Amino acid sequence: MAYPFSNSRDAHVDLSSQDAFSEGAPFVTFERMRREAPLEWCPQSDGGRGFWSITRHADIMALNRDTELLSSARGIRMEDQSPEEYEARKTFQETDPPQHRYFRMLVNKAFSKATISAYAPQIQAMVRDITAPAFERGEFDAVEAIARQLPMRMLAQILGVSAEDAAWLVTKGDSLISNADPDYTDHVIDKVDTEKYRLLPFRSPAALDLFDYANALLKRMDAGETIGVLSVVRQETNDGRRMSDDEFRNFFCLLVAAGNDTTRYALAAALHSLANEPALLPQLQAGGEDLYDSASDELIRWASPTSHFRRTATRDFELHGKTVRAGDKVVLWFLSGNRDAEAFVDPQRIDLTRKPNRYVAFGQGGPHVCLGMWLARLEVNLVLQELARRLKGIEQTAPHSYLRSNFIHGIKRLPVRVHRK
Ligand code: HEM
Repeated sequence: MAYPFSNSRDAHVDLSSQDAFSEGAPFVTFERMRREAPLEWCPQSDGGRGFWSITRHADIMALNRDTELLSSARGIRMEDQSPEEYEARKTFQETDPPQHRYFRMLVNKAFSKATISAYAPQIQAMVRDITAPAFERGEFDAVEAIARQLPMRMLAQILGVSAEDAAWLVTKGDSLISNADPDYTDHVIDKVDTEKYRLLPFRSPAALDLFDYANALLKRMDAGETIGVLSVVRQETNDGRRMSDDEFRNFFCLLVAAGNDTTRYALAAALHSLANEPALLPQLQAGGEDLYDSASDELIRWASPTSHFRRTATRDFELHGKTVRAGDKVVLWFLSGNRDAEAFVDPQRIDLTRKPNRYVAFGQGGPHVCLGMWLARLEVNLVLQELARRLKGIEQTAPHSYLRSNFIHGIKRLPVRVHRK
């Protein structure tokens, strides 16, 4: 590896600990697990009941597909949830087929490759708007100036809200999804008693503000207004169900948090890579359109912004000589699968031409494969194009810092200097 994307050399870190990820992901531990213990029981230091870790690419692909064996309908986070908590916080992400399929069919079209491709000119204009003043300044925090801005503007577009509202929503979304990082919330999940908020998404009081905002949107839609994709999700599914108000509020939080921060951290990792591997930018500049596609995929593989999702075993089963019991939590480490040498030639190297690239950062292979996958890819692609068009070089000027989170793998500060053409 040409430069560090993690500082930890410990092969036995506690994966339930948020601190284990605060200086980058514990790749050395994942490497050991893939080699020696591809199904490993992990006790939880936060008082949870423990979980099984799946770290090999092939196992992640097979198990993510097998929803009869591993269910999403009993929680998708590492934390233990009571049936009451789980029910209160549920979205369609916490359902299994066939129920999941009906709802997913409603929203698929709004996020399909064809629909999203039509946004390209608008996204391109946003990218120019965002990057031009930063490039003019020359030195800036690339996360704040670029990576945070683009997904936020796209969110405004998708939700049909003002830029000001989007900025407010994203700050609230940060408190939700970054609930373990004191830079983003006063209610740090493993340090403060959040019992009072256990029925809210991410056990975060910020969800109450997002609920208020969602309630106002519900009112407007009930009065007959159409609000982009949000009106689509309120339609009746093929099995005759309609999303309840509770589910809508949770879905809104999901869209604001998961649809935003993940793309930010994909962009941050891409910028970090370009700033630290000087050969990448000229390589992009010399390539054609195809190269931007493969480069976006490769940089999202490298970034792996959501490190894991959890499932629950529906029955006892054997794997790699061990027995998983019905009801056990099973965590699929997408982050580890994306560094698996059995699936990727030289996985520690960024190869912008990598093809095929069977990365799993979006939960590919399973029914819950990321809804925003085409959008995130396009945003990364268009940022890369703009960097290649405008810059002679980009370099990191001071150490970067990572989000404190074992769920979201992300660089939160990245000081850079750019040299314009
Ligand atoms: C690089 C950026 C992104 C990454 C790495 C990412 C990652 C993921 C992953 C791994 C899943 C599967 C979850 C599971 O298996 O339970 C997922 C699902 C989902 N993502 Fe993304 N995501 C990204 C961007 C987005 C965007 C831009 C949006 C929306 C605008 C979005 C909305 C969703 C939704 C709604 C689901 C649930 C889908 C379902 O359950 O059927 N994501 N995402």
